[in-house]
Amino acid sequence: MNILLVGSGGREHALAWKIAQSPLLKRLVAAPGNPGIERVCEVRAVSATDVDGLVALAREIAADLVVVGPESALEKGLADRLAALSIPCFGPSQLAARLETSKAFTKDFCARHGLPTAGHGVFDDAEKADAFLQTLPPPYVIKADGLAAGKGVVIAADLAEAKAAVRDMLGGRFGAAGAQVVIEDFMQGEEASLFALTDGRSAILFGAAQDHKRAFDGDQGPNTGGMGAYSPAPILTPELAEQARIEMIEPAVRAMAAEGYPYVGVLYAGLMLTADGPKLVEFNARFGDPECQVLMLRLESDLIPYLLACATGTLSSLPRPVWRDEAGVCVVLAAEGYPEAPKAGSVIEGAEADFGAEVTVFHAGTARGADGSLTAAGGRVLNVCARGSDLRVARDRAYAAVDAIKWPGGFHRRDIGWRAL
Ligand code: GLY
Repeated sequence: MNILLVGSGGREHALAWKIAQSPLLKRLVAAPGNPGIERVCEVRAVSATDVDGLVALAREIAADLVVVGPESALEKGLADRLAALSIPCFGPSQLAARLETSKAFTKDFCARHGLPTAGHGVFDDAEKADAFLQTLPPPYVIKADGLAAGKGVVIAADLAEAKAAVRDMLGGRFGAAGAQVVIEDFMQGEEASLFALTDGRSAILFGAAQDHKRAFDGDQGPNTGGMGAYSPAPILTPELAEQARIEMIEPAVRAMAAEGYPYVGVLYAGLMLTADGPKLVEFNARFGDPECQVLMLRLESDLIPYLLACATGTLSSLPRPVWRDEAGVCVVLAAEGYPEAPKAGSVIEGAEADFGAEVTVFHAGTARGADGSLTAAGGRVLNVCARGSDLRVARDRAYAAVDAIKWPGGFHRRDIGWRAL
């Protein structure tokens, strides 16, 4: 099979690494890729948001399947354009991707279909938002409606902070993404990430993980895209995952189809595990990053048949995926200044050494110099991943590799997996 993989992060490096192991693969091309992906397959300098360029590339390589990593491409309607050409695409249409690209859409959708989630209101007017806030107890949860690079959520301790956040968002801080704000009831509990694959009709669970959103140890500092992950996440027991499948995933897939925009691809449910059971924090229309990296490390089954079955409406014909009976850990190495202002250009040494079969270093925001050296070229730069017989073994392997990499311009958390350990 010829496959076009769209994206350039650690998630896409992990997908490329796994896809490349398949005997079904003839040719894999990634766009735009990164220096790590370049060691796995061919890359082309077409941006993940250049829909015309990606469609042309899919045609040029006679792609049998296009796998879309990031939500930005989905928001631009890449899946719709490929559908018009009958090119199978793993990733939802523009309308279906609203489960991630519009929080207002998703919250209203959940309310329409009785999915368990926090109560909410949607506002484009600051005075009306204030009146709603006054009916709630603190803390206050305020979210920009659209995509805001992970920065569009504020948990405000008091009313003054909440009102300021509403004004900040409605005032244009996130452009059109903040034209509406969603205000939600605060939910108490621990968060976990649950993944399901769907072809628009049937859905299967496809692993779970726990992310570390804050920048620094002890869950301190600003929110980030994720500083590390581990899988499985003991807190999300098989029983709770099954409950979430029955109460959220299945109803969401059915309702999306019934409303006229069947959802195809991976449905990522960000869950809050509350005293009353799992509740939906958010849906995402893609694999989590860095959760995907640990899932790919643990996935024993060939990935391609699952991706293709989603794209061609044949998921119910496949057996359940097989996972290694091992733990996977990912430690994110980020550039100094991340998430506000990551510094680019610092040199990284030792990241491409052979750390053994259990350790894999995925590239996220790296660049390759003319002399072959590796430099930082993004916020999250490297994902040092390891598997092991249990979480402690996997974590120790990952940190041993982290400690062997020389990068004075970077930082990382030392406590990935602390909740489970
Ligand atoms: N790691 C969180 C996310 O991918 O949104």
